[in-house]
Amino acid sequence: MPDCTTASMWDAGTLPPPSLPHKDFIKGVSNIQNGHGRRVGLLAARINQLAELGLDPDIIQLAGELHDTGKVLTGRDILHAPRALTPEERNVIRKHPLLGLGVLQWYKHSFPREVMDAALLHHERWDGTGYPLGLKGQHIPLWVQVVSIADTIDACLSKRNYKHSWTPEAVGKILQQEAGRAFEPKLALLCADHLDELLNVWLADYAWQNGGNAPPPGMHTN
Ligand SMILES: [Fe+2]
Ligand SMILES: [Fe+2]
Repeated sequence: MPDCTTASMWDAGTLPPPSLPHKDFIKGVSNIQNGHGRRVGLLAARINQLAELGLDPDIIQLAGELHDTGKVLTGRDILHAPRALTPEERNVIRKHPLLGLGVLQWYKHSFPREVMDAALLHHERWDGTGYPLGLKGQHIPLWVQVVSIADTIDACLSKRNYKHSWTPEAVGKILQQEAGRAFEPKLALLCADHLDELLNVWLADYAWQNGGNAPPPGMHTN
């Protein structure tokens, strides 16, 4: 069965050693929160295909995989807390986009612009009420708009210590409700319309992680 829980040399709970092989960095970051980054990468690549956006498929996948890089510096007690977070803990969480940019700079591997943008900006909202910069509408790069939707789809579908997994119907509803609020409206509605296909991508990863089946199509196995 493939190792899907930890990178071989690094536990993704500290700054990566500069000598860490690139594949171990990606593996460690994308496994944080039970493979959240890995699934966001796969979903982002599929959204790019479905919407015919023409973004480079490998780069958009990598941007999804590494979007939560900043969480390597967020305490595991906060990330996996089986309860609602305190206001202080929420403030700690809100630092992860800026920290992500810092960690990617520190690691010194040269990442594409799309990856740096996704790490910094994936909590921006279409209506301008997101963070850390409060960007609005088309000021949010297209690849970040894609990663933000993929991020929400996986966060809603996944069971976490503090929440149940949402039904696909509830996820479809949130995409519709947040069209033009959190998300670029046409993209959000397209994802709601194609939720079955996105769910298949999500389920393939889930089956692989839990049953040792073959890696889902499109997965980076480097
Ligand atoms: Fe995040
Ligand atoms: Fe995320």
